[in-house]
Amino acid sequence: MPKSYLSKTVSTLKPSGIRKFFDIAATMENVISLGIGEPDFTTPQPIIDAGIRSLAQGETHYTSNSGILELRQAIAHNLEHLYGVQYDPLSEIIVTVGVSEALYLSFSALLDPGDEVIIPTPCFVSYQAEVALAGGVPVEVPTTMEDHFQPNPEVIARAITPKTKAILLGYPNNPTGAVVSRENLQAIADLAQQHDLLVVSDEIYDRLVYNFEHVCFPSLPGMQERSLLLGGFSKAYAMTGWRIGYAAGPADLIKGLVRIHQYSVMSAPTISQYAALEALRMGEPYVQDMLAEYDRRRKLIHTGMNELGLPTFEPHGAFYVFPNIQNTGMDDETFAERLLKEEEVAVVPGSSFGEAGAGFVRCSYATNYNLIEAALEKIGRFVKRL
Ligand SMILES: Cc1ncc(COP(=O)(O)O)c(C=O)c1O
Repeated sequence: MPKSYLSKTVSTLKPSGIRKFFDIAATMENVISLGIGEPDFTTPQPIIDAGIRSLAQGETHYTSNSGILELRQAIAHNLEHLYGVQYDPLSEIIVTVGVSEALYLSFSALLDPGDEVIIPTPCFVSYQAEVALAGGVPVEVPTTMEDHFQPNPEVIARAITPKTKAILLGYPNNPTGAVVSRENLQAIADLAQQHDLLVVSDEIYDRLVYNFEHVCFPSLPGMQERSLLLGGFSKAYAMTGWRIGYAAGPADLIKGLVRIHQYSVMSAPTISQYAALEALRMGEPYVQDMLAEYDRRRKLIHTGMNELGLPTFEPHGAFYVFPNIQNTGMDDETFAERLLKEEEVAVVPGSSFGEAGAGFVRCSYATNYNLIEAALEKIGRFVKRL
């Protein structure tokens, strides 16, 4: 057997805890999955049609590295319309292969070996890995259910060292559903200013908020020049499979992202760029319909979990609830494994999202209402039996 040729960075990277559960669930029939972090809706028809039309019209080539100009213009227009922030489509926006690639590009472009990135957790599973892959050091700062999973500026301040380069925020949050208050974001902005840090703000769930204001981080005074805004189409427009997103920020940083992007992927998928353009032009009524349905499910699952005796924070954004399962006496991995085996309901152990997620499980409500009802019944049976 030859030695492993994998780099130390890659061989020490932990596999995502989510994948492990998908792999088990995939071998079982009749599983109700609350595990998946993507909309159950298919992409709205006009968006699909725009993709097909672009193919029929011969748009089968590479585009500009940064993406087609009409799409960058539409993204800039949308950000100005929603949040009052102004980006130059020519130099301050890059279209990427989802927010996933935007994260990869951001940290590859920003970090030198050993640079630290502060990440409030629980958080999206890729954050720590993206920082580590770029040679950086992810520094987790925990958030708690008692604090409504708000990132605590004092805790962040204590984690800042001379090596800190950036703070990575992901709100509305996967997996907790927390949305950060303006006041709290302002306190983080003040810290960024004081310590000359960059803020990478992943706002992929910006349109999925329930009676709550989403504050776009770069819209805070003085923050546009020290933030990279990452946004996408996967969640609000149900376009996960199209693999399309973007980053917006100061021209010199975007130039750095484009440099890596041009050598690694060349340009985001062309048909997806045309579909995304249609999403921004025509997608709003569909976003509102999906949002209303998520909200109905959100109320059902939030109330349902609390009634089963699993204390659950009311999520104000994204499409997840994050019940605390500690009073079952099990750790989150065991809870998820037994629930899957005994009741065929898939949830994700909270510790997959950072240490602060231990003792919780993530349940997605991007799942049919009736299935959520059935899952709640099964979880109720499971919890009662314990
Ligand atoms: C917080 C967060 N950021 C980024 C992504 C990746 O999104 P995309 O499909 O745009 O790559 C996800 C997907 O689950 C997510 O939850």
